[in-house]
Amino acid sequence: MAASETVLRVPLGSLSQSCYLASFFVNSTTNLSFKPVSINRKGVRCTSSHEFSSISNSAVRGHSFHSSNCSLKGKKFVCKCQKHDVEESIRSTVLPSDGLKSDLDEMPLPVNGSLSSNGNAQSVGTKSIEDEAWDLLRQSVVFYCGSPIGTIAANDPSSTSVLNYDQVFIRDFIPSGIAFLLKGEYDIVRNFILYTLQLQSWEKTMDCHSPGQGLMPCSFKVKTVPLDGDDSMTEEVLDPDFGEAAIGRVAPVDSGLWWIILLRAYGKCTGDLSVQERVDVQTGIKMILKLCLADGFDMFPTLLVTDGSCMIDRRMGIHGHPLEIQALFYSALVCAREMLTPEDGSDDLIRALNNRLVALNFHIREYYWLDLKKINEIYRYQTEEYSYDAVNKFNIYPDQIPSWLVDFMPNRGGYLIGNLQPAHMDFRFFTLGNLWSIVSSLATNDQSHAILDLIEAKWAELVADMPLKICYPAMEGEEWRIITGSDPKNTPWSYHNGGAWPTLLWQLTVASIKMGRPEIAEKAVELAERRISLDKWPEYYDTKRARFIGKQARLYQTWSIAGYLVAKLLLANPAAAKFLTSEEDSDLRNAFSCMISANPRRTRGPKKAQQPFIV
Ligand code: GLC
Repeated sequence: MAASETVLRVPLGSLSQSCYLASFFVNSTTNLSFKPVSINRKGVRCTSSHEFSSISNSAVRGHSFHSSNCSLKGKKFVCKCQKHDVEESIRSTVLPSDGLKSDLDEMPLPVNGSLSSNGNAQSVGTKSIEDEAWDLLRQSVVFYCGSPIGTIAANDPSSTSVLNYDQVFIRDFIPSGIAFLLKGEYDIVRNFILYTLQLQSWEKTMDCHSPGQGLMPCSFKVKTVPLDGDDSMTEEVLDPDFGEAAIGRVAPVDSGLWWIILLRAYGKCTGDLSVQERVDVQTGIKMILKLCLADGFDMFPTLLVTDGSCMIDRRMGIHGHPLEIQALFYSALVCAREMLTPEDGSDDLIRALNNRLVALNFHIREYYWLDLKKINEIYRYQTEEYSYDAVNKFNIYPDQIPSWLVDFMPNRGGYLIGNLQPAHMDFRFFTLGNLWSIVSSLATNDQSHAILDLIEAKWAELVADMPLKICYPAMEGEEWRIITGSDPKNTPWSYHNGGAWPTLLWQLTVASIKMGRPEIAEKAVELAERRISLDKWPEYYDTKRARFIGKQARLYQTWSIAGYLVAKLLLANPAAAKFLTSEEDSDLRNAFSCMISANPRRTRGPKKAQQPFIV
């Protein structure tokens, strides 16, 4: 270690513990580099420590997580909890703050991480759909050493193969977390944020190769195993999956981005900024940023990712620069900018972040935008333009314009295309990317309205009998065979390939509230209410009009339930959508208009004294 380096010990401990799982160095020249110590195979003990009380005390407030003794054992985070302690702490501490005690008193004790011991009792009698949804959401809560830390992906008693649906998925927990925040139940969200942060520093490898340190897992599972030699004790183990066990072995790029978005929502909703200000949380944010902002070979400011690295987690031809990832990336950068506490050594990172925000914003608004006028422009494109000021910069051949697009594009309205690569525009409409571009203000105000106009104009295609198509249209025939690799789950109008996902209701609601058009979400919620509970809260629906419960859809899918609840809660209290939305600030607006008016020729030539940034 150089003499000028300052070592910061980072407490990555949960709540009442302090685990020294990571340290990083900030040297006097402000280069920031990270040195994980999670590779310490001997294990790092987490003991009750008051050493960092100034940092962590506020986060501990109200939390009675007790009697745990946690350590890193090999690859697993292990907590030893006495069985009776776990039960007691569930009775006394979990879930709800005020007001909800009576509901909880009737809840069964958790069995293997889930509150339900007898499957999913469908609500009966006079219960509203919303009440039923709350019951089901609570039944999906997963506990770790007596504390609620997430929700399992699906709680389907009829399913013969569980696969990984009994795990807590980071992306799936976001609507659950928001529902709990909006209900005033904060503990589960704080615990989720802090425990997943610990998993970020995990040792993760696939065939001897390790991904970047800032990677957040796709999902994790709480395993309860008997403690060797002591029948009265059990160990609880947090077992993360970074993609090394996932179908297709894809690294989840969206997890860390969603984590940042949820962290900001937690601070906004609770007013408790102490979590985001913790040193370990700040380090976590920086590690994610470092991974995303690292220089590569790319000419574009968009994030280059592999197929299946987001909600669509199987081959669907979305490798490259898919809109969903770009919208989440942009949103996470905006949220991180708000939360990063200025300190020595963070200037370079903040500069890199700002530069990327401006470039990304310009790139998406300019090159991903599609409406009738733009299609006509593409239709008349010159190709093979070798010049600095080419109109057809990406050399798109007009023949690429698919025949369906001409009918699909309304006179009024438009959307951001799914992906852009050299000589390739993916013209498919991807719902989550478009909605989150509205929410994060990646799209301009006009573009945001135009996206909602298109959703309204194309209601029969995008919503039909159940909100909301994940993408439009489906790939069929030879295209399906080649692009999905003949994936039998992604057949046309099923699952990721044009299936309808009720969870997307919550993002639709945030976007339409932000644009002052909540009636769009109201209409969609009303439609969902006609069937969703009767159909047992499926994961997705199939067919062009979403008439069938998906071929392999799980029932009682938690994010279908939570997505519905968030939509209902926000429609009842639209002001709360602010916890999730970001408005464009004047700095960005100015930078954007400078870029638009800049002459590309003028910007060439030797680089002016540009501030370098090192992350
Ligand atoms: C499926 C979905 C993915 C989701 C997971 C758990 O794999 O494609 O987005 O996170 O199920 O629900």
